[in-house]
Amino acid sequence: YTITVHPSDNGAAIDDSMYGVFFEDINFAADGGLYAELVRNRSFEFLPADRSGYNGLTGWTVTGTATTVNDDARLNDRNRTYLRVTGSAGLTNAGYNSGIATKKGNIYDFSVWARADAGATLNVALGGATLARKVTTDTWTRYTGTLRATTTTDAGRLTVSVDKSARLDEVSLIPRDTYKGHGLRRDLAEKVAALKPGFVRFPGGCLVNTGSMYGYDAANNYPRARSYQWKDTVGPVETRATNANFWGYNQSYGLGYYEYFQFSEDIGAQPLPVLPALVTGCGQNRATNDPALLQKYIQDTLDLIEFANGPVTSTWGRVRAQMGHPKPFGLSKVAIGNEENLPEEYFANYLQFRAAIKAKYPNVTVISNSGPDDTGATFDNLWAKNKAAGSDMVDEHYYNSPSWFLQNNARYDSYDRSGPKVFLGEYASLDAKFANSLAEAAYMTGLERNADVVKMASYAPLYANIDNVQWRPDLIWFDNDESWGTTSYQMQKLFMTNVGDRVVPSTTTGAVVQPKPITGRVGLSTWATAAKYDDLKVTTPDGTTLLSDDFGDGNADGWTSLSNRGTWSVQDGAYVQSDTAATNTMVAAATDITATDYDVTLKATKT
Ligand code: AHR
Repeated sequence: YTITVHPSDNGAAIDDSMYGVFFEDINFAADGGLYAELVRNRSFEFLPADRSGYNGLTGWTVTGTATTVNDDARLNDRNRTYLRVTGSAGLTNAGYNSGIATKKGNIYDFSVWARADAGATLNVALGGATLARKVTTDTWTRYTGTLRATTTTDAGRLTVSVDKSARLDEVSLIPRDTYKGHGLRRDLAEKVAALKPGFVRFPGGCLVNTGSMYGYDAANNYPRARSYQWKDTVGPVETRATNANFWGYNQSYGLGYYEYFQFSEDIGAQPLPVLPALVTGCGQNRATNDPALLQKYIQDTLDLIEFANGPVTSTWGRVRAQMGHPKPFGLSKVAIGNEENLPEEYFANYLQFRAAIKAKYPNVTVISNSGPDDTGATFDNLWAKNKAAGSDMVDEHYYNSPSWFLQNNARYDSYDRSGPKVFLGEYASLDAKFANSLAEAAYMTGLERNADVVKMASYAPLYANIDNVQWRPDLIWFDNDESWGTTSYQMQKLFMTNVGDRVVPSTTTGAVVQPKPITGRVGLSTWATAAKYDDLKVTTPDGTTLLSDDFGDGNADGWTSLSNRGTWSVQDGAYVQSDTAATNTMVAAATDITATDYDVTLKATKT
């Protein structure tokens, strides 16, 4: 058929900041990823998180006598557990994945907080590189030194030998060579910088709201498994209280709000934080009815804007200045919440956040959202509420098959031009093949055609550590010393580094060939908590098997989880185990499935 372009007609203007990235600490994207720290569990704070089986010595091997202790001798109130060596001990940290990556000749900055009542000597070794430090006082003191690596390896170890009784905490090893000297792993930061993102959405995702109701673990007198609260993540790293995260592992918060703002600035992107709305999402259904707690969260959000933009004489602007950035970061947008499951409760809270923010900072854009799904009653309900309330912008998320993206190219053609603008905060085509990137590219032409309504878009998730994957597909993959982009990365790069100024309208004549659906979708809506399933099959109503998998090779071939309605994994190469709530969903992503709904036969193994 024929395509005719109409250069004299004015199409939508496309903002330079239309395309950005969404960073979430999923797939070990922060610790063991973008944050360059090489020591795992440096502050001995790993406590058993929901799914991890962690303990205070996770990541460490001890010879001699050394135990983790949480008592009054602690380093500070927010870094409560430390390591007590009795007599003498050797401590080895295994880092992440295969170990600690070093490059021969490069410098690594070591530091540790220590105290010893009778003095002690620390002998530190990284491969063949060594240093010694004398602990001279029984007051917590930070000891530092540098190590020049003698070997190139991705499986090194850091060893600290202690000759006498001592207390240690916050053992750190960071490569001197980080992105712009700001503590982030160079290759991972450069891959994002190469996209020239207009914005960085952070820190999540599901991670943001998790545990909103659990401000404090009363049983352990310990503030953990709480929502992502920005104040936990700023100031000296040894005062940042670590936390379990939604994705089943601990986060050190070494990569915190200051670092996110700094990184955004370093790559020329607008920072776009997502704040917890005090209503959980991502399969959890909890909201607070505690007005005082809600006011605290709202005040924290106002304080964040002051932290980012306030003068150095303001309370939080001073904290920013003390951390090394007297100049404001220029925060202009904040998002309230992520995929909340309770629309009424979420929206009531959002309105209170918005009122407070607009009263103090009228020029800050406040982004609302449309719930956990791109379709259905919650989505419609929240969009209607957002329209009625005159929201600035609404965050939409969807993960779907390549065929869905091809078939929904016109999604925004009919959106109300006078309603809230759209922030497509998360999207990705769910297939294991190149079809993803082609479908995404086709879809992005629809975003650009509607750039008067769709003001921002970010693919998700951004990073995946090959040994710790909670979600796929992802844009950038990495191990200890290498990283690589997927075909979707290359596709994003193509669009992001060639953002047009204006859409040139076009028309077509002739027969338009409709794309055929290339994947099928099956929903397993009765997925039970911790249930195990084997021999998953997709069958047509007449009994033909289209896809089956016994998981014998340890993979779930042709299957992928849909969005975050719970997570699941292959266990022992034998069955699939679902480990969260009842709303888990799976998608068959085999290219030979050509219709949209099939029956699913599930066979449960004995648990
Ligand atoms: O991008 C991964 C997850 O998908 C996000 O945490 C969540 O917002 C969505 O469900």
